[in-house]
Amino acid sequence: MYCVRNVTEDLYWVGANDHRLTLFENIHPIPRGVSYNAYLLLDEKTVLFDTVDWSACRQLLENMDYLLQGKELDYLVINHMEPDHGASIEEILLRYPKVKIISTPKAFMLMRQFGFDIDNYEQIEVNEGDTQSFGRHTVTFVNAPMVHWPEAMVTFDVTTGVLFSADAFGSFGALDGKLFNDEVDFERDWIDDARRYYTNIVGKYGAPVQALLKKASGLDIKMICPLHGPVWRSNVAYFIEKYDRWSRYEPEEKGVMIAYASMYGNTEAAAQALAAKLCEKGMTNVVVYDVSNTHVSQLISEAFRLSHIVLASVTYNLGIYPVMHNFLSDMKALNLQKRTFALIENGSWACKSGDLMQKFIEEEMKNMTVINERLSLASTLHPDKAVELDTLADGIIESMQPEA
Ligand code: FEO
Repeated sequence: MYCVRNVTEDLYWVGANDHRLTLFENIHPIPRGVSYNAYLLLDEKTVLFDTVDWSACRQLLENMDYLLQGKELDYLVINHMEPDHGASIEEILLRYPKVKIISTPKAFMLMRQFGFDIDNYEQIEVNEGDTQSFGRHTVTFVNAPMVHWPEAMVTFDVTTGVLFSADAFGSFGALDGKLFNDEVDFERDWIDDARRYYTNIVGKYGAPVQALLKKASGLDIKMICPLHGPVWRSNVAYFIEKYDRWSRYEPEEKGVMIAYASMYGNTEAAAQALAAKLCEKGMTNVVVYDVSNTHVSQLISEAFRLSHIVLASVTYNLGIYPVMHNFLSDMKALNLQKRTFALIENGSWACKSGDLMQKFIEEEMKNMTVINERLSLASTLHPDKAVELDTLADGIIESMQPEA
């Protein structure tokens, strides 16, 4: 059965939702599923913007069959050929052999590299600023390298102000019928998954996202059609502002994330004592995570959201606890910057984790600050450490004050 939604007068969402995939890119949990968005324009020419993951191909084909009603597909625009969108390209070519493929030279190269049989079909290579008319609609192509692969582009419909934004402005989460941002409570139900999607998938590429936003600021965008998650037809500026902030690595909120690595509960107890002390002193925007039991994609998302990060780690084989080390490595890999760190270390006989975490932050990450106050535990947080705990909480709060 077809399952389509009308986006504008002659543009349709023809994608699909996926609740079966447990790990996006085989790494990130997606308990709310994901959507693979594709869009079909029924102008004088018929145009499909991107395809879907192979698992959703049948749904895409049924949707197109229903809307085309025996007509040919004239053009296939590939903004992003990563297999979660490009895997159904070959099937579209087989079903619609007269179709002309429009994409970037690099995308065609990657299609061949992935083994897609495209060379018996007409290919139109486009570059920055090229335009194409489909009848009433004229589109222009804008290169978007590294958002999130090097071949990516976005397509702007100058007739309607619709931006086909590829991975940009996407989100984890299946649509389940609700296509538009104003059909959901985005702040309540979607923003965390949108942030987790952006920060883990595109987070490393802040500079390319900034370059795309700069180009986008010259376009009169009325609607954003991304390849995952809701279509933005209202309050577009809200989501653009989020992308701008995330890609500049600026925190969304003044607040403290305490991430602890604890073997027997003693480091956890210190993390909780610090959280209580911060709240007692008036800083209640505090969240506490066990790095052993929280997926690192969630930790990354929270690290992008908040201004301050407290790392509390036991010493393990004279090093940083492995899952805490993994969190640090992921923050580095995703290029997180401009955060203030505080450290809690624990070691029963050779306490090393504090120095090692500080060295990692200062030598391997960019534009980070580690506050001087540090809480050191020998096995457990003894009552005689109350002053040090208090001093650490004061140090964190002090570092939140605007500089005089
Ligand atoms: Fe949703 Fe970069 O693919």
